[in-house]
Amino acid sequence: MVDRIEKNPGARLDVKAFQDAQQRLDTRAVVRSLPPGLTEEDFVSILRLALLTECATNSYAAVFEEGARKADAQWLRRFNTNVWVPDELLHAAPFKVLLMSMGYTEGELDRQVRETQEKSYTHGSGTLPVQLTTFGLMQEYLTDHWYGLIAHLVHPAAPEAALMVARVKKRETLHTVWYRNMTAIQVESNPRLLGPLAETLAKFSMPGNALVPELQGRATAWLPKMGGDFQHMARDMVRLIHESTGDVKRMGRVLVDIAAHKGYHHGPVSARTAKRALDGLGGPGYGLIGEAILERVGLSHVFSKQKKGRAILFHNTLAERVRAPVRSWIARQLEVSFDAMNVQPA
Ligand SMILES: [Fe+2]
Ligand SMILES: [Fe+2]
Repeated sequence: MVDRIEKNPGARLDVKAFQDAQQRLDTRAVVRSLPPGLTEEDFVSILRLALLTECATNSYAAVFEEGARKADAQWLRRFNTNVWVPDELLHAAPFKVLLMSMGYTEGELDRQVRETQEKSYTHGSGTLPVQLTTFGLMQEYLTDHWYGLIAHLVHPAAPEAALMVARVKKRETLHTVWYRNMTAIQVESNPRLLGPLAETLAKFSMPGNALVPELQGRATAWLPKMGGDFQHMARDMVRLIHESTGDVKRMGRVLVDIAAHKGYHHGPVSARTAKRALDGLGGPGYGLIGEAILERVGLSHVFSKQKKGRAILFHNTLAERVRAPVRSWIARQLEVSFDAMNVQPA
């Protein structure tokens, strides 16, 4: 897979074209068209969050490099060094251009960038290759989604600026797909990696929380005002986890694992106790939980599609007559929320 990506990494960003566009941009016009609840200061901070988290590429790259070296995973090292880093190093440019067209001087932005780069980034969600690609998957998805919201925000007043952000978004979409596929390939060859994968999801935190907490901490409040929808994001994340783990039962296991890691309780039963019970049963309940989670986020077509091939009359079987209401009952109890995944956008 990495051979293929190295041969065809897609078109990288054209930083010169962004800089040339700066004179034409009227990003200040965006301020007059901001939705209710978002101020000029919010807008500038949203752009600064993007600039300052993008400029720390080398900090994240060092974590991947070290993890790849420890596991002797040459494929991950090559992807990181030859594809991901040179691509990511270009992503800060459009946000810098937008901030300069808002009136910031280059000197001031460079100072903020240097300050952020000098901070030490500690990575707390595991450094096994499968954990790094899982981290990459979540981080890229959330960044991709966040840039979609920024593009949407600036588009009415500054369509050319929106296009610049959309170009970066496109790269993040590609990165999300790459990390999803790398994770799926590893899990498929060794299902025991599901444990460390779940641990990473449970401990996941956007790097901005460590590098620019004063900005990252505001992202959850900005998100709905920018048109973001937490349920929609939960659905996307469940879909990505399902695709990375390969089937509904494994996804159910991963989500119960996450709940156990986080020490969640449902009524008198802790997730840890539920996990012990499910493990004791040999895990048949995980499939049901996986289905319930898909149902809860509105993705029930995923498991009905999987079953279609098995038996057209499936819904009439006794097993399904029992299974369906239990699944729906579990689905109603589940709070698959954005918060439950400990994820903060951007
Ligand atoms: Fe990026
Ligand atoms: Fe990326």
